[in-house]
Amino acid sequence: MRKFCLGLVFAVAAGTAAAQGQVNVICSVQAEWCNMISTVYARSTGTRVNMTMKGSGEALAQLIAEKENPKTDVWFGGTGDPHLQAAEQGLTLEYRSPSLPQLHGWAQQQAKQSNWRTVGIYSGPLGFGYNPELLAKKKLAVPRTWADLLKPDYKGEVQVANPASSGTAYTMIATLVQLMGEDKAFEYLKALHRNIGAYTRSGTAPIKAVARGETALSISFVHDAPGEKMQGFPVETVTPADGTGAEIGSMSIVKGARNLEAAKKFYEWALTPPAQELAAAAKSFQLPSNKAAKVDARVPDFRKIRFIEYDYAKYGASAERRRLIARWEKEVNALPR
Ligand code: G6P
Repeated sequence: MRKFCLGLVFAVAAGTAAAQGQVNVICSVQAEWCNMISTVYARSTGTRVNMTMKGSGEALAQLIAEKENPKTDVWFGGTGDPHLQAAEQGLTLEYRSPSLPQLHGWAQQQAKQSNWRTVGIYSGPLGFGYNPELLAKKKLAVPRTWADLLKPDYKGEVQVANPASSGTAYTMIATLVQLMGEDKAFEYLKALHRNIGAYTRSGTAPIKAVARGETALSISFVHDAPGEKMQGFPVETVTPADGTGAEIGSMSIVKGARNLEAAKKFYEWALTPPAQELAAAAKSFQLPSNKAAKVDARVPDFRKIRFIEYDYAKYGASAERRRLIARWEKEVNALPR
């Protein structure tokens, strides 16, 4: 009898382990948030989450490289443009979540324009990060407009990421092109190049450098500042008075995912209010896409920001993104500083 019971226990345990399975996720948000979702999801469902962290541009490059033999099931987070590009290239799966009506219009729009191959999970505005102590010490003013960033006083003081690896930096290029027209935007980027101290790989590195006093200014998503401030670093943000863009952070299921059922379950969970509220718990302060998710007081107030009409479909198109990044490499990054 005892033997039989033990056997039954093992059989049940093995059965549930197999049913719960695993899910392979590329995560393109801040590490603390990635770790939080993988721990909470694994603990509450018993599903193993194999997580790789990559910036938005690098994540897309990985999906392209894996196309014939996908190793990833879900791509969680990162700016929306490369998710749209993945959709267009047939790298991600068409999937209409039953939760779509619970999401803000911008998140549903992101799904619709990808033919249901991605979905908005958060949004956040682009702006400038600054270190008030360093600016005061160097007797520098806080920049208020895009033009202000070109002041010779800021030479070597501005950091931004490289648009090939970072969705944040690509959002900057697309924003400037929409704000100024393409040729003027490239003139602007060339002039800005003289003030750039470093182009980083990851979109969040510049604001971390500002917070730690390594550089005075950054071009960053403003929701990345409160987490640094909570750690005691002196960092503030401002959004340009002449207008700015916002990202629609997105999530997609990979076409040919080996763990498709597990991928769908994870995806559905990630759209629920409790899952989206984990962002603030992990010191990430984007606006959640589920209308019922609590909005932390540190999330930027969108009503106070002057936004451009960002054309997500146009700037998420493969040819456009590739062309603008190549033009930036050739005409801007190749110049001496
Ligand atoms: C940070 C931000 C996210 C953004 C991501 C893009 O994690 O908090 O809102 O989507 O950066 O990262 P990337 O390295 O591609 O610019």
